[in-house]
Amino acid sequence: MSSFRFERAENFNPTLLGRSLCMDFDAVVSAFEADAEKRTKGALSSYIYDMPQYPGDPVEGGINYARYVKLPTSFIPQKQPPLLKQFASVVKKYIRAESSFFDLGPGPNWSVTRNTIPALRVLNPLAYFAVDIELTFTEEACRVIEREFPDMKVQAIAIDFHSKVLPYPQSGVSVVWYPGSTLGNLPSLPGQTFIENKFVADHLKLLHRTNGFSQENKESQHYLVILMDSRKDDVNSMINLYVSPEARECFLSILFKLKRDLRANTFKPESFVYNPQWNEQSSAVEHVFTALETQEFTITDCFTNREAVIKIYEGENYVLANSIKPSCEEMRAMLINSGWEPLESLRDTEGQFHIHLALAST
Ligand SMILES: C[S@@+](CC[C@H](N)C(=O)[O-])C[C@H]1O[C@@H](n2cnc3c(N)ncnc32)[C@H](O)[C@@H]1O
Repeated sequence: MSSFRFERAENFNPTLLGRSLCMDFDAVVSAFEADAEKRTKGALSSYIYDMPQYPGDPVEGGINYARYVKLPTSFIPQKQPPLLKQFASVVKKYIRAESSFFDLGPGPNWSVTRNTIPALRVLNPLAYFAVDIELTFTEEACRVIEREFPDMKVQAIAIDFHSKVLPYPQSGVSVVWYPGSTLGNLPSLPGQTFIENKFVADHLKLLHRTNGFSQENKESQHYLVILMDSRKDDVNSMINLYVSPEARECFLSILFKLKRDLRANTFKPESFVYNPQWNEQSSAVEHVFTALETQEFTITDCFTNREAVIKIYEGENYVLANSIKPSCEEMRAMLINSGWEPLESLRDTEGQFHIHLALAST
């Protein structure tokens, strides 16, 4: 039996992906604004993990991501598991009641095994929620967790967590487990610093909107555990994370997904070169796509039938994805600005990344 959702390219139907998983029409329009000063940078970062939907589908970001993380140069996947496990014991001291555990972006099953299971053993929550934009990752994560913890309630939630509120319980303790520096994939605007980044602040606020959750009740507590790749003095060490063929293919997959999901039939994804560049002001590695030729094509939103003409100019740079790397201090300041009270922070001994425990404070 085929493991693809569609037997052939002709059968592919973007509406069946659902709104959350289909590439967002407005995000594409904002990423390719004619005026570079108005262009949203990194608007398409979430789409580097997509899996092919039919035989021969060139959208293979998820496959290349699985290869990329196994490279010795991929520090977060290689080095974050011990730090997460160590930090889970710190978090445990705060969790005094049965909890719901929201795994934000669990990724593929080997990642769940290494990054999530050791923490679940320490925290022993009542319920586990796998929240990911990639449906297959949520299903895989739930299968792995069910096998490992037969008594735990598990639920797959395939959504874009940048735009949807999570189904937190009305009372009790919830823990949002957010490793992998995934927050670093959010967009930025030209000329902004990390602290001024409204996309990051709004996302962090959305994560603690708790639908009537009561801070009066001492048993009702809402925690965030977030691990971020740290900004480093050696700029090349940050750029070099993305120069392997596997990393390049993840980012180039964005262009093929655009063509596929938005029915951009005349768009030529191969007419770009990709280069990562460090932006000191926004604390981000920007994934820059330089157009090799001028082209004009139509995109269609399959849910509303809206259409837009996108013009690409030869030699123009488009930042389609971000890897934001704030310092530990910048991250703490951002947590406070967005209504979280930092309780504990830890850096790894090599200064690669930092991890924070914060409590929803407003
Ligand atoms: C960098 S990986 C992290 C994987 C794993 N948690 C780890 O720490 O290695 C990011 C994960 O988040 C998911 N993701 C990225 N953007 C998302 C979004 N906007 N909404 C939901 N999931 C998203 C991806 O599909 C992927 O599984």
